Amino acid sequence: MERLDKILASTGRWSRREVKELVRAGRVTVNGLPAQSSEDKADRDTVDIRVDEVPVSVTQYTYLMLNKPAGLVSATEDPREKTVLSLLPEHLRKIGLFPAGRLDKDTVGLLLLTNDGHLAHDLLVPKKHVEKTYLVRVEGSLERSDVDAFRVGLTLSDGYTCLPAELELLGECEALVTLREGKYHQIKRMCAARGKPVVFLKRLTFGTLTLDETLAPGEWRELKKEEVEGLRGK
Ligand code: URA
Repeated sequence: MERLDKILASTGRWSRREVKELVRAGRVTVNGLPAQSSEDKADRDTVDIRVDEVPVSVTQYTYLMLNKPAGLVSATEDPREKTVLSLLPEHLRKIGLFPAGRLDKDTVGLLLLTNDGHLAHDLLVPKKHVEKTYLVRVEGSLERSDVDAFRVGLTLSDGYTCLPAELELLGECEALVTLREGKYHQIKRMCAARGKPVVFLKRLTFGTLTLDETLAPGEWRELKKEEVEGLRGK
């Protein structure tokens, strides 16, 4: 059980003093009843807190799915470049969210933002081999021999041999690529090893999560409970 002011302040939207004022003004309800004091205690995992009748998400961790646009870096801060966090409203930039994994500046699509370090670690640790699927477009034409080379395990220009990956041809220069690892610029380097430079790259899935195609580039939404459970392997 935690104090109401602590729970609401942890959303980044109000200070503890502002919560006190909201409660005094009768704008906060807890499980359907007006809050009596900002010091009231509640269990943030089960409580229904509303401010001005609008439900407030107060779970310990936040999980967002972002449809990353091109031109932003997958970082929390950068001395020169705009980061993906710049797409979020101010209160969500104050609660320790970070991108779970990186997409290159010019790569678009599914990016998970969370402040749950344990889950992010579990998804990113190499030995878990979490699958990621990308839509890729290349210069030149993709062939059966490329599919076979991806399946066997491509050797990159630095000598690294990739784990077997799937290349599913969609058209002459377009394919789905599924990886079970995530090395630096991996797909670009894999395609370069076949002499077919990448011209467009979009991530569609990350583990059990699939990009919500109703999100326009730059848009985001909170994950649904089932989506978080899926990522946790439940
Ligand atoms: N592979 C790449 O080359 N770039 C990405 O952003 C992701 C996978």
